[in-house]
Amino acid sequence: MTAVQRFMTIQRHILEGEKQHPEATGELSSLLSDLVLAAKVISLEVNKAGLVDILGFTGGSNVHGEAVKKLDVYARDMIYRAMDHGGHLCVMASEEDDGMVHIPPQFKKGKYVLIFDPLDGSSNIDVNISIGTIFSIYKRITPDDGSSGTMEDLLQPGYKLEVAGYVLYGSSTIFVYTTGDGVYGFTLDPAVGEFLLSHDGMRIPKDSKIYSINEGNYKYWAEGLKSYINYLKEEDKSTRRPYSSRYIGSMVADIHRNLIYGGIFMYPADKKNPNGKLRLMYECNPMAFIVEAAGGRASDGQRRILEIEPKSLHQKTPIFIGNEVDVKLVEKFMSEEHVKITL
Ligand code: AHG
Ligand code: MN
Ligand code: MN
Repeated sequence: MTAVQRFMTIQRHILEGEKQHPEATGELSSLLSDLVLAAKVISLEVNKAGLVDILGFTGGSNVHGEAVKKLDVYARDMIYRAMDHGGHLCVMASEEDDGMVHIPPQFKKGKYVLIFDPLDGSSNIDVNISIGTIFSIYKRITPDDGSSGTMEDLLQPGYKLEVAGYVLYGSSTIFVYTTGDGVYGFTLDPAVGEFLLSHDGMRIPKDSKIYSINEGNYKYWAEGLKSYINYLKEEDKSTRRPYSSRYIGSMVADIHRNLIYGGIFMYPADKKNPNGKLRLMYECNPMAFIVEAAGGRASDGQRRILEIEPKSLHQKTPIFIGNEVDVKLVEKFMSEEHVKITL
């Protein structure tokens, strides 16, 4: 029998965390609470998706030229509405919006910045496969004088994150967050209407044997990456090979599984997408912050994701994220050294 979890709502957990920081003003806690509310509402709508006339395309496409589904728009609007009037944010940015998302003039501007991917894995909506929300909170760089935030406040490297988290709408809804010190997961009890602590102090297991990558793109990969994937398929008990291949196609769900079972998730650069597919600000930085806080590693193949100096809101980056050992090995294969590795 496993040990009994601490019985705690996410709200209580946020408050306890705040108490450990005497300098805390309660603003971050308040922001997190607003995000929790948005998550509950989005979860409800995601669960209804097959029942109401919400499926299908809006007819528009987002700034990446991808079809926008109604549920993406719903999630984006819900988060915006939950977050625009709290007085703690000075600006926002969302994957579904082209430029900065401003706080309406009538509301107070605060010292934090929110960046989010309202619905990640949205091509899975129509087929009842897990999707998620990803969020990041930074402190503003410009003076906290009541003015609106600027692009400078948004374009911060990931190591400066104050909080990052995701909500996974799966067989149950899970809210995972970190302030960089411990990763905590809370499962929504739909009857009680509360997120309850279910994953206390998440650590990515060291003995991984899962890899997640869209292998359909094999032909377009660099030779080092091809060698690495071929290496994972070879048999060697001492290194738990061959690895299992698991690819959901929702980054949040793939990384959540790997956080629990151990594993590596990759979206590399390839001949068709020289910078990969995933966005640094909305997807890669927050997931890297979470995975590092859980003892893992996240890299673009050469350097830490969290150290990339962002140039634009929608910039993409290749990503290799998960167990430290696995990520270091793929980096090695992708560098010149891969030729020296004995396969
Ligand atoms: P989004 O729905 O926010 O645009 O993101 C989808 C992303 C990510 O969740 C997933 O890992 C990846 O796209 C899957 O891409 P492929 O279909 O190219 O494998
Ligand atoms: Mn996404
Ligand atoms: Mn999205």
